[in-house]
Amino acid sequence: MIKVNELTHDYGHGRGVFDVSFEVGKGETLGFLGPNGAGKSTTMRHLMGFSKPQKGEVSIGGLDCTAKPSEIMKNVGYLPGEVALPEGLSGRQFIKMMQDMRGVRNDERVRELLERFKLDPSGSVKRMSIGEKRKLAVVTAFMSDPEILLLDEPTSGLDPVMQEEFISFIREEKVKGRTILLSSHIFSEVEALCDRIAIIKDGRLVSTVDAAEIRHGLHNIMTIEFENAGDFTEFGRQELDFALRDRSSLKCSVVVDDEDINRFIRAIRRFRIKSFAEHSVTLEEYFMHFYKNDKHFGGVSYA
Ligand SMILES: Nc1ncnc2c1ncn2[C@@H]1O[C@H](COP(=O)(O)OP(=O)(O)OP(=O)(O)O)[C@@H](O)[C@H]1O
Ligand SMILES: [Mg+2]
Repeated sequence: MIKVNELTHDYGHGRGVFDVSFEVGKGETLGFLGPNGAGKSTTMRHLMGFSKPQKGEVSIGGLDCTAKPSEIMKNVGYLPGEVALPEGLSGRQFIKMMQDMRGVRNDERVRELLERFKLDPSGSVKRMSIGEKRKLAVVTAFMSDPEILLLDEPTSGLDPVMQEEFISFIREEKVKGRTILLSSHIFSEVEALCDRIAIIKDGRLVSTVDAAEIRHGLHNIMTIEFENAGDFTEFGRQELDFALRDRSSLKCSVVVDDEDINRFIRAIRRFRIKSFAEHSVTLEEYFMHFYKNDKHFGGVSYA
């Protein structure tokens, strides 16, 4: 349903998006994660047809987003990362303006959404709090009951109760078979909602993982404490994926995937070990590994 193919937009000084490719299938929710400035909003803006790719194509439901921006606008529920609302309107007037723009009249749905997100639209948009503005954007994004949703950090600015409400709302949308691209910095939200997760960094896609894989433990970290410094040093020479080597505590942490487990066991057999612990990498740890720009799992102690 959503297709991004080698999307490139270079804003200079290494900024922008470069050769980004991914797809979101019908009924699928793809989480889009990455540090500030990674290119999430830029990718989404291209999908909405607001910016034109310098190279590559973006399409939604087979429609080229660059060539058919008005059709994209009609069919897609877009929640922008930064909500810019026209001043001098009340919330109610803004909703009406958006209904006119999209050519929809769906007062019942609007009423339901206002009720659900506890928003009073009578006040002026200018005087609304950040959270109220976000809620107004939620109402206008969802009022036409769109099949495809582009949600750019949808819960930022919402209080914890409203964040939860929003997550259960999206769960219901998933049940209805919606196709969703969701950018977020909140791991629990991503874990709760996404089927797959794509990680973008410095404008490039660095990893795509199955959420189920993460729930089952993506990688295992083995932490071994040695009895003596000689063994600690010798073990450090093994060809393994070390996450941490701490001489003062004589501890090593090693990333061991399921297919590496036999090799790992062979490697530790001849050493004298004081303690041994295993744990699996959560989405948060996995993400932080990209976030912090470390080759390995960045000096975090997994003991
Ligand atoms: N129109 C533009 N002109 C110049 N630079 C731009 C433009 N749009 C985006 N950029 C740059 O591209 C990079 C990606 O920005 P983008 O807003 O996509 O990041 P993001 O992943 O959404 O980050 P955040 O988590 O902070 O929302 C940034 O370095 C930004 O400054
Ligand atoms: Mg953004």
